[in-house]
Amino acid sequence: MNEITIIKPDDWHLHFRDQDMLLETVPATARCFERAVVMPNLVPPVTTAELALSYKERILAARPAGSTFTPLMTIYLTDKTSVEDIQDAKKAGVLAAKMYPAGATTNSDSGVNSLESLYPVFEALAENDMLLLIHGEVTQKHIDIFDREKEFIDQHMVNIVKRVPNLKVVFEHITTKDAADFVLNAREGVAATITPQHLLLNRNDMLDGGVRPHNYCLPILKRSTHQEALRAVVKSGSPKFFLGTDSAPHARHRKESDCGCAGCYSAWSALELYTQVFDELDALDKLEGFASLYGADFYGLPRNTEVVTLVREAWDVPESIALPSGEPIVPFFAGKSVSWKIKT
Ligand code: NCD
Ligand code: ZN
Repeated sequence: MNEITIIKPDDWHLHFRDQDMLLETVPATARCFERAVVMPNLVPPVTTAELALSYKERILAARPAGSTFTPLMTIYLTDKTSVEDIQDAKKAGVLAAKMYPAGATTNSDSGVNSLESLYPVFEALAENDMLLLIHGEVTQKHIDIFDREKEFIDQHMVNIVKRVPNLKVVFEHITTKDAADFVLNAREGVAATITPQHLLLNRNDMLDGGVRPHNYCLPILKRSTHQEALRAVVKSGSPKFFLGTDSAPHARHRKESDCGCAGCYSAWSALELYTQVFDELDALDKLEGFASLYGADFYGLPRNTEVVTLVREAWDVPESIALPSGEPIVPFFAGKSVSWKIKT
């Protein structure tokens, strides 16, 4: 197959950042995604309905002329989030709340320290038909960084899913066979997003032959057996797994640094790279479900009606992109060839 037409996809997890960065990130995503779930880890974080609504306006203002792209807003849970905050968010049209264990990743310092005390908030999310989006890694420093996702499942995820049985939970950007198996065997109402980097790469791609900071993201790339497990679940066509790029831009000097930031800026090539993966897996017939249908169904939103066509045609991801601030950023897969292209 040299051409594939699918319902226009949505990105169920990404980071747009704020201010003039939006002039780069919003058009890059709007070029092929109709909607995107926007992560709230700004500095300071988007913790309330009011902050989410003003952030949404800034995103809408950064859309290219004529674009119908729609941001889907989330709020950031802290130790102080109240049931009333959730009710206000619901009224403002916020779809979901994102939980970062404090210190787990970029801009998560205001995240949750005591998960146990958040159960009333989880109940309120379920009552208001909102989703809980989870960065599923423990933050205990003595736990090996490669084991933090599995530990989170055992210490927390099992309990959350069991104790709030009517809560819809998205296990974000899963990276392990453990997480894939957990979601496969979980009750209805539990799903996961998967990034292009975790399907394409494993930890050798970050560490073998030299440190590659542009492949450093959190949760960190795991060994190839985990990569293979993720590839197997998307190939299976299970509706519990859907597209979330986790596109997360950081200027080049923040990545190529003594203490580099976590995050891959994949918006420029994500859809094409997912297509490449499904093609490699001989599963192009499963791409549309993953990219365009299962996420909308899980969120309870209408499926898109427009279509996008991808063609088998090689092109190179740019080595560097200039941010509106003038600073360079290195996109994910920079300088590498991608074998599928969006037909314009
Ligand atoms: C994200 C970011 O930069 O905001 N980084 C990342 O490595 N994925 C945060 C996150 O999703 O963990
Ligand atoms: Zn993310």
